[in-house]
Amino acid sequence: MKKILITGGAGFIGSHVVRRFVTNYPNYSIYNLDALTYAGNLENLKDLENSSNYTFVKGDITDETFINALFSKEQFDGVIHLAAESHVDRSIMDPLAFVRTNVMGTAVLLNAARQSWKANWEGKRFYHVSTDEVYGSLGETGLFTEDTPYDPHSPYSASKAASDHFVRAYHDTYGMPVVLSNCSNNYGPNHFPEKLIPLAIFNMRNNKPVPVYGTGENVRDWLFVEDHARAIDTIFHNGRVGQTYNIGGFNEWKNIDLIHLLCSIMDRKLNRTEGETSKLITFVKDRAGHDLRYAIDANKLKNELGWEPSLQFEEGLERTVDWYLTNEEWLNRVTSGAYQNYYESQYVAR
Ligand code: NAD
Ligand code: DAU
Repeated sequence: MKKILITGGAGFIGSHVVRRFVTNYPNYSIYNLDALTYAGNLENLKDLENSSNYTFVKGDITDETFINALFSKEQFDGVIHLAAESHVDRSIMDPLAFVRTNVMGTAVLLNAARQSWKANWEGKRFYHVSTDEVYGSLGETGLFTEDTPYDPHSPYSASKAASDHFVRAYHDTYGMPVVLSNCSNNYGPNHFPEKLIPLAIFNMRNNKPVPVYGTGENVRDWLFVEDHARAIDTIFHNGRVGQTYNIGGFNEWKNIDLIHLLCSIMDRKLNRTEGETSKLITFVKDRAGHDLRYAIDANKLKNELGWEPSLQFEEGLERTVDWYLTNEEWLNRVTSGAYQNYYESQYVAR
């Protein structure tokens, strides 16, 4: 039986990855390590609680003593590392939290894996999940490929870029069998409502202003989260050691166009007259250092490993809206408490 450690499994993408691995690989023993920060929510994995090949471990990836002990006790065969501080706006408010978790935490995990595997790399793999934001910002044309030079602009993307460099350094220096992926914007169930799509759905449902930064001209390339989890599965098993794979939706949207599409879906779902929800759109002060456009060339992954996105965006958005409207309890619970304080300082106080 293979033992796989997945970090950040109680978060948005991690919960979909954990579910996929626990369900599809009964011969693997899946360990989900998560510190349960504001973004971690075990409710995302309630259905797995009694699965015999699933273990939850509460712990912080920056805690070197704890992580070393865990690796030495469990002798993992593989690591899929997703734990991170993930929200750009929070990184602008508190950059050092991002350095700690994203840079230091990744280095602690790499080092624990190196010590536990003792250069016996046979059957071992360290998979680092990263973001397209490390490549910086595109103009009107062009796509990010795996060879695009790094040019991060936010403390979040700078910390992810640094973590990517550490992972590659462990491959080049120690021979650790690593693989990396850099993905575009995800959307879908369990997405914390500080990010654009779930925040907009939440505010639209509650007749609250829907904040659009600047003029809404920024472009993002959206991918349904289950398609990302499937890409991670494919790359973990079949990706070539030392390689990076870009993952994207071939699906670019200007923020303002995406918000209008969501408004029309919400009008229909909530039996509102056409155009009613779009009255909530409110242009607010732009994000500092706001990247104009991200767009991924995912052809390496498609040509080498046969992965492609499976869902059309309109269908994925419908599914996402349906999920949020039928999981009001989840939404209400995660938007109470600490999240309210963040919302006040991000949108109300400035
Ligand atoms: P998320 O914020 O929803 O979840 C992060 C998880 O990590 C949470 O469960 C949190 O509790 C846990 N965590 C945070 N700090 C920790 C620590 N110090 N120790 C242990 N656990 C800790 O994030 P997400 O959107 O699911 O992103 C997951 C990964 O995918 C991140 O590495 C992110 O950079 C990357 N990524 C995200 C997107 C996206 O669109 N969301 C796109 C590309 C890449
Ligand atoms: O590209 C991958 C990245 O996508 C991931 O690495 C990050 O973890 C993830 O958070 C996401 O980053 P973005 O900054 O692109 O996502 P966010 O949902 O915060 O914002 C999407 C776009 O919408 C961006 O141009 C900023 C804008 N925006 C966002 C919020 C929260 C608004 O206009 N209003 C808002 O209230």
